[in-house]
Amino acid sequence: MTVRAIIAGSGSALPVRRVTNDELAQTVDTSDAWIVERTGIRARHIAGEGETTATLATAAARKALAAAGIDAAAVDLIVLATATPDQTFPATATKVQDALGIVDCVAFDVAAVCSGFLYALSVADNMIRGGGARTALVIGAETFSRIIDWEDRTTCVLFGDGAGAMVLTAEADSDRGILATALHADGRHNQLLYVDGGVSTTGTVGKLRMKGSEVFRHAVVNLAAVLREAIDKAGLSVTDVDWVVPHQANARILDATARKLGLPAERVVVTVDEHANTSAASVPLAFDVAVRDGRIRRGDLIVLEAMGGGFTWGAAVARY
Ligand code: UT7
Repeated sequence: MTVRAIIAGSGSALPVRRVTNDELAQTVDTSDAWIVERTGIRARHIAGEGETTATLATAAARKALAAAGIDAAAVDLIVLATATPDQTFPATATKVQDALGIVDCVAFDVAAVCSGFLYALSVADNMIRGGGARTALVIGAETFSRIIDWEDRTTCVLFGDGAGAMVLTAEADSDRGILATALHADGRHNQLLYVDGGVSTTGTVGKLRMKGSEVFRHAVVNLAAVLREAIDKAGLSVTDVDWVVPHQANARILDATARKLGLPAERVVVTVDEHANTSAASVPLAFDVAVRDGRIRRGDLIVLEAMGGGFTWGAAVARY
């Protein structure tokens, strides 16, 4: 008997406030034309008072549970990917657990920045296949607006806040579910994308710093390679893929990666125009949008991928 982790449902949540490029251009030296041409971003959602990583994560989780038709009481594992937790500790996953009224389950956070959801998904998949969990909530949630230097035009136009969630359930001998995952990290690139603060260094939260063009160059190479690796691991080929759901950092990265793999652009889910880069939230958020608007259907072969600070990167192949 082979047990697989099935994607039983998904959900997502965005802060109420939508901020356009033109609005940003009122406070920093930028323009809608530059942002759209270089990134494909037109707007992003920014958390307001009372909206936090945990509240967004909880809203996404509730929708995912409703879509799966599963009661919160059945959840025995919560893995939450974030680089912007509500508090240094306890884990934001435990705040979501409490908000959902789950009295006992395993709950912890995973920090792999923009690749966080792929790391969280892989951990949950392994726990389910190993018999350590049966019903998992896997969440990516961020409030990057709180670590952005709003005077740095090279970064402040790129990011947004949000959350996405999936419910995974254990199913025996199914042809659906997560078929393969591949994860990587290379800590030599720490200084290309990082936050200039931290609990045990400066004792401050810090602000995001990025050498964008260098990250861009690594992203295209690493993402194309890890996509191929995960597809190979699943014993499939690029032509079997119905949808790629990439990390939404920059429309040009999505185009270049698809071209490198020989994947038609129509098979790539793009939400960066409306959400910008929501870090760990971006993959499950884009997945949920594409499920709800009818693009991704049951039985489709999907590939998820992301790369972020560390560097960390990863991919997953699933039959939805
Ligand atoms: O999620 C983690 C992964 N992160 C990413 O994948 C981000 C990857 N990097 C990128 O998406 C792109 O590199 C950026 C969008 C960040 C930058 O695009 P680029 O085409 O690499 O531009 P650049 O950094 O080479 O900058 C070109 C010019 C510079 O001016 P000069 O030096 O040529 O005069 C920048 O100062 O554009 C200028 N610039 C801006 N101009 C108007 C940079 N940011 C802005 C801005 N508005 N917001």
